Amino acid sequence: MTMHESDLTPKAWDQRYLQGRDGWELGKAAPPLAHFLHDHPLAPQPPGRVLVPGCGRGHEARLLNSLGFTVIGIDISAEALREARRLDQPDASCQWLQVDLLDPPALEEAGLGQDSVIGAVEHTCFCAIDPALRTAYAQSMGRMVAPGGWLLGLFWCHSRSGGPPFGCQPEQVARWLQGAGFEAEVWGPAHHGLPSRDNEWLGLWRRKS
Ligand SMILES: C[S@@+](CC[C@H](N)C(=O)[O-])C[C@H]1O[C@@H](n2cnc3c(N)ncnc32)[C@H](O)[C@@H]1O
Repeated sequence: MTMHESDLTPKAWDQRYLQGRDGWELGKAAPPLAHFLHDHPLAPQPPGRVLVPGCGRGHEARLLNSLGFTVIGIDISAEALREARRLDQPDASCQWLQVDLLDPPALEEAGLGQDSVIGAVEHTCFCAIDPALRTAYAQSMGRMVAPGGWLLGLFWCHSRSGGPPFGCQPEQVARWLQGAGFEAEVWGPAHHGLPSRDNEWLGLWRRKS
């Protein structure tokens, strides 16, 4: 990993979008999440206000919006949000906000304070954040998702060094989320993933009431 690759500032994420260094880009919502939302018996149902952290170009956000959720996509990169707006369909109504998921006062100011959403969908935001800040990630999600609400996430549990994407172990993810007040309803290896994404785990986590 070079210092350049590990730069996690908003400006560095902007540069990745501007220079096409976006190896995470699927051009659509992640298939394991799309299948879960469409077909799984435990799939969260609209209506409700749902957050997509580190939304990037917004594929998961638009999918949720098309299913009937009210969606807020947040990202620290202005370029990511420019792309998300560019890809919006005329009938879409996602809200795109430039705010740091790890900055509680900024979230509060953006209308994303305590218990402000019924659900959240995670896709390659967790693995983009400094691993030292994962407790803060989990606490932020636990603060915004209301009791009884849910976090649906696809976590890339690879073991390679460096990043982004930074790896993790499923047991660690479980510990961080449990520490932030979530209980697993589903937590296991994901189905329908791409061959290039080894060892993805899918979870539906419920915030304790
Ligand atoms: C690997 S990209 C994934 C984008 C999108 N979720 C996807 O799967 O296509 C990670 C995204 O998270 C954003 N990001 C990184 N740290 C963030 C933070 N602290 N708060 C909000 N967004 C962040 C980056 O700007 C980038 O758009």
